[in-house]
Amino acid sequence: MTQVTSGMRAVLSVPAVYDLFENVVGATRCRASFVRDFVKPVAGERVLDVGCGTAAILACLPDVDYCGYDISEAYIAKARRRFGARGHFVAALLAEHSLEHERPFNLVLAIGLLHHLDDDEATQLLRLCRAALAPCGRLITLDPCFDHAQSPVARWIISRDRGQNVRDADGYRRLASDLFTMTAVHLRSDLLRIPYTHAILECSG
Ligand SMILES: C[S@@+](CC[C@H](N)C(=O)[O-])C[C@H]1O[C@@H](n2cnc3c(N)ncnc32)[C@H](O)[C@@H]1O
Repeated sequence: MTQVTSGMRAVLSVPAVYDLFENVVGATRCRASFVRDFVKPVAGERVLDVGCGTAAILACLPDVDYCGYDISEAYIAKARRRFGARGHFVAALLAEHSLEHERPFNLVLAIGLLHHLDDDEATQLLRLCRAALAPCGRLITLDPCFDHAQSPVARWIISRDRGQNVRDADGYRRLASDLFTMTAVHLRSDLLRIPYTHAILECSG
């Protein structure tokens, strides 16, 4: 959900260290607010979480039918240890064939993922997400965001992120606007304990 310096990349790839860092900056509270204000899940819904990491978001979700994908074997192993049968966890890149036998999802989440992908990779991923959605389903993403009104400290922290593709609100919206009928971007600067700006992209249709 958050990262700070490229020098910390190796350390943060250890799942326990990543989760500890996240908790120090307030990621647990951030996830709870994100779920309450934007995801608004309903028990029984099918949820696909792309780039799920250690699937920490599951702790904030009701009893949903959860499927998490992440390219990190270590993160997926930790998700399995922590959540077991509460979800289905796959250590792989999400691809077209991954979804062939899946029923449509009510919610697709990509938390802290788009800012790691360039425009072509992100558009390709969003196309897969759209294909995975049920007709009334929603895609919701959360990423760091540049904004002219943010504090210099927030801008500096975000500029040190491991992700090389942090965008402004329009940049995130543009990724999805040709793929979905409805796209909205919400900015929040109060989700973490540190100065930070998040963009929440919500897409449907
Ligand atoms: C910043 S972490 C966010 C993890 C989790 N969503 C969270 O909120 O804690 C980004 C995650 O995306 C994963 N990732 C990066 N590129 C990916 C891709 N193309 N497909 C699936 N996962 C990917 C990384 O392994 C990493 O776990």
